Amino acid sequence: MRRIFKIVLALGVLIGLGAAVYFFKPVNGPERDLSLEADATRGNYVMRIGGCVACHTDLKNEGAFLAGGAALETPFGAFVPPNITSDKDAGIGAWTLEEFSRAMSVGEGPGSTHYYPAFPFDNYTLMSDQDIVDLYAALMATDAVAEKAPEHNVGFPFNIRLAMLGWKNMFFTPRRFEPNPEKSEQWNRGAYLAKGPAHCGACHTPRNLLGAADASQHFKGSRGGTGGSFVPAIDPASLKAADWDEASLKDALTGGFTPDFDTLGGSMGEVINESLMHWTDEDLTALTTYLLEGE
Ligand code: HEC
Ligand code: HEC
Repeated sequence: MRRIFKIVLALGVLIGLGAAVYFFKPVNGPERDLSLEADATRGNYVMRIGGCVACHTDLKNEGAFLAGGAALETPFGAFVPPNITSDKDAGIGAWTLEEFSRAMSVGEGPGSTHYYPAFPFDNYTLMSDQDIVDLYAALMATDAVAEKAPEHNVGFPFNIRLAMLGWKNMFFTPRRFEPNPEKSEQWNRGAYLAKGPAHCGACHTPRNLLGAADASQHFKGSRGGTGGSFVPAIDPASLKAADWDEASLKDALTGGFTPDFDTLGGSMGEVINESLMHWTDEDLTALTTYLLEGE
């Protein structure tokens, strides 16, 4: 009996180690070219496309620009978007471009801090090298705010950051956007924006029980938006069924009326005010082209 017990125990340890090696192996993606020349003005536009301001600024309480946002309520707890101003202690002013690129591309900060997917790195990983380099230059040029944002309020076991490394091994693949050569340049730009920096799917694609986006349900809407709100489907069939066309989409997405003479509110209102209102007409056209045509 004791011998069998020992064998079983040894097997258990082996399986456990195997799982640990599988779940906790480092996550690395394609290399980025970080030697590109940076343009901070362009980076400010990338910041708007990426919606960084909507999350990292406490808009309701008129908080300082990028100095930390309102808590995001999720089924796993409340996540507070941190201060990402150029302050060297409270913000990310002491970070190298390499460190910033790793945070955006593999969801890992300095000192092996594994991020929660409430930070949409699963979308930002698709961003181009130029966008990352420009965005970094823009962030380093922001006014430094010396106050740290409050801590997250997340219960056990989700407060164990190392678990996020396991999460990444299960659900996350660092990758870059791959253009579809059969589609127009406009469509490809729209697909890049929607899936990459503008992270529309972070809200419009349903997530599984562990908070990972369900790729098979791309843009099919979700019931679990921030604050538990309902997020409508924005796949081509649903958009057309609701009478959207290019003109009405562009109008509603820049603060105008929907085909039902309503306006878009809640978290979408913030996306419009802090991101879409600042897009060029060209990029809005690209976005609507991709939305209406689909994959
Ligand atoms: C949907 C909300 C949301 C959006 C949009 C968002 N972030 Fe964040 N971000 C977060 C949260 C939440 C965290 C904290 C993650 C954690 O602690 O695991 C975070 C963390 C970070 C960090 C790590 C900071 C640190 O001190 O470790 C950086 C850098 C960052 N975000 C940059 C950006 C940039 C740049 C953009 C725009 C391209 C952006 N974020 C957009 C929610 C967001
Ligand atoms: C932070 C979460 C969030 C993000 C990110 C987001 N949306 Fe939304 N979206 C919503 C919510 C919530 C609604 C419902 C708003 C309402 O009914 O007032 C909505 C509504 C919409 C609608 C209206 C659909 C309909 O038939 O009523 C469209 C179109 C839309 N979003 C497009 C987009 C696009 C394109 C992006 C990316 C650029 C995006 N959304 C990013 C949360 C989000």
